[in-house]
Amino acid sequence: MPKRLINLTVNGEAYEVAVEPWWSLLYTVREELGLTGSKEGCGTGDCGACSMLVDGRLVTSCIMLAVEADGCQVTTIEGLATDGNLHPVQQAFVEKGAVQCGYCIPGMVMAAYDLLRRNPNPTLEEVRLGLAGNLCRCTGYAKIYEAVLAAAERMRGD
Ligand code: FES
Ligand code: FES
Repeated sequence: MPKRLINLTVNGEAYEVAVEPWWSLLYTVREELGLTGSKEGCGTGDCGACSMLVDGRLVTSCIMLAVEADGCQVTTIEGLATDGNLHPVQQAFVEKGAVQCGYCIPGMVMAAYDLLRRNPNPTLEEVRLGLAGNLCRCTGYAKIYEAVLAAAERMRGD
């Protein structure tokens, strides 16, 4: 079967990519576009390490076909920092010591970013629920939740 040409806008940059029909969005972004921030943990939609935004919706990109994202706006972890400055969510993860091995963190940050766009003043319980689709094998989650609450505070300017 021939490859199919698709158009993606990733972090504001337009790409035309030839993809196999069975390639995932995650594979395409990592291997064809060279944006390796998004990670593959499980490859089955269960861990959230591959989370990115597609047309503003948080998706597990390991189980989305690249052809399904044809014509979409994609935001990956590489798209959050601006002018060399970390996004407040990223900054809070660093400051709160919320990162251990780091493998889950791009997905955690994307899920937190998505949560805070929808709910700028979440309770701890809402943060826990917002990140429920993201698994971490290292941190025990407490520092991650602390970082998200700190980021929310900073973004609101409290
Ligand atoms: S790698 Fe996509 S959900 Fe785990
Ligand atoms: S920091 Fe290692 S899996 Fe989360």
